[in-house]
Amino acid sequence: MSGPEALPISGPGRQDDWRRWVVYQIYPRSFADSDGDGVGDLRGVLSHVDYLQRLGVDVVWMSPVYRSPMDDNGYDISDYTDIDPLFGTLADLDELIAELHARGMKLVMDLVVNHTSDEHPWFAESRSSRVNPKRDWYWWRDPRPGMTPGTPGAEPTNWESHFSGPTWTWDEKTGQYYLHIFSTRQPDLNWENPEVRQAIYAMMRWWLDRGVDGFRMDVINMISKDTSLPDTQPRPGSPYGPGDQYFTCGPRNHEFVQEMYREVFAGRDAHVLTVGEMPGVTVPEAVLFTDPARHELDMVFQFEHVQLDIGAHKYDLRPLRLPDLKASLARWQAGLAERGWNSLYWSNHDQPRSVSRFGDDGPHRIASAKTLATVLHLHRGTPYVYQGDELGMANAPFTAITDYRDIQALRFYAEAAALGTQSAWKGGLPALLLAMAKMSRDQGRTPVQWDASPGAGFTTGTPWLAVNPDHVTVNAAAQLDDPGSVLAHYRRLIALRHADPVVTDGDFELLLPDHPTVWAFLRRTPDAELLVAANFSADVTGVRLPLDDWAGASVVLTSHSGDPLQPPPDLKLRPWESAVWRRDRS
Ligand code: GLC
Repeated sequence: MSGPEALPISGPGRQDDWRRWVVYQIYPRSFADSDGDGVGDLRGVLSHVDYLQRLGVDVVWMSPVYRSPMDDNGYDISDYTDIDPLFGTLADLDELIAELHARGMKLVMDLVVNHTSDEHPWFAESRSSRVNPKRDWYWWRDPRPGMTPGTPGAEPTNWESHFSGPTWTWDEKTGQYYLHIFSTRQPDLNWENPEVRQAIYAMMRWWLDRGVDGFRMDVINMISKDTSLPDTQPRPGSPYGPGDQYFTCGPRNHEFVQEMYREVFAGRDAHVLTVGEMPGVTVPEAVLFTDPARHELDMVFQFEHVQLDIGAHKYDLRPLRLPDLKASLARWQAGLAERGWNSLYWSNHDQPRSVSRFGDDGPHRIASAKTLATVLHLHRGTPYVYQGDELGMANAPFTAITDYRDIQALRFYAEAAALGTQSAWKGGLPALLLAMAKMSRDQGRTPVQWDASPGAGFTTGTPWLAVNPDHVTVNAAAQLDDPGSVLAHYRRLIALRHADPVVTDGDFELLLPDHPTVWAFLRRTPDAELLVAANFSADVTGVRLPLDDWAGASVVLTSHSGDPLQPPPDLKLRPWESAVWRRDRS
């Protein structure tokens, strides 16, 4: 039999090296609902820990479950040390930590500390009066001189919020504006204030002492702003424009993250896994953030490859060229080869389904889901499996605005409807709905498809966001014991990483960078090498790889049953076929 089962397991201690771990992301609202209210919860997660163990993942990252008014589905936190009743209790969380640990898995919590909810007691105090001791915990500023407060253009800067409209909201009571990069209900914390930082660090220590194993840090490259708050270039026809250059990777970002390391992570017995979400981060910045000698973070989520198919904003769709996608990933591989570490992802709760976006969710759904997974997991770095991707879940057939729940989508649509071509959208509402069906965050948030029953095994009630009707065929129950399933392929990929050090340690060389539909690369250590070749098209594709004779190599993983039609270097790949070959170098 070919496959990772046939590979020698590398020596003991392997699992202690965090670079060999695979992370699985749970978006709890959409994972599993234990009480029939239509919203996923912690007891739902608890009922699937054996599924996660069988998948083979090492770490579970869970999107926020803290107390929250749910303006942004929990990314607006009103109490950092309690669980929202919608999701369960602290006792449920303790049980989840224990059950994961008992199975050799770890739990990484989402850490949302660029902002809080406007219902957080810190903000309630801060907004209560100009002389409140917590006034300076958030960004309060006077209106622009000579302008009428609360009218468009009177804001302290002309930055546009990531959720449409200005980044400043007028607060009548104390006669100032507060800053919020995201929704009006997500005021930005002022990290310039050392008391804020100490309060955050204390909270993080509290979670580590409780047993969690790491943090995924939400927009952590937005915590340091240009304190002179400069105006940005407005979009044509609008008073506002993107101000990201003034609040991403700001002047004190590294200093703050290093301080966090010293105050929270240094000296802990076990490695604390850290990944920073960083929209707009560049390769040189990422090297600084992840160079182990600098004691900042293990890895960052960069956004380059999920912005190749969009223009000015999320719904400004552009055709994706495979050579650009290959080049982007290869540039990050090269940039972090000597210092630092990559994270690898196709999707998450902010992105549409990967098989619909990068693969073929029609006749080649299964093959393309497997091939996408193979290509991603065989790059160097830590792979992230987003819930449902391991089942080949696809975008849902959403057509109406009432299909959507996400604040980002709803606000963008409302602004387009109200302002027409003066909004960021120029193309009319029917066209916007078509673009939203492709790119909306809700597409990544439809409930996990556990079985073919009406609620997809996700809920016995009415799901908060519609279940994709394709769950009658695309579901976990149908795949659990099917060796040809996408799920089985993910299990093999994860096992391959655990078994073969070349997957983690090997260097990376892209082959045929300009080929329009074939993605091929080598991974190499002094002892062995892996060759990955994938057909990103629905056509049978013949290709000659620039390699010597690999005829004697073993096939360790394939997307299709049976070996590829021809051995490398002269390949003939079936639609969306991919394969991994291995040979010793000695
Ligand atoms: C991050 C989260 C996203 C959230 C935003 C504001 O990008 O992943 O879901 O809306 O931050 O917290």
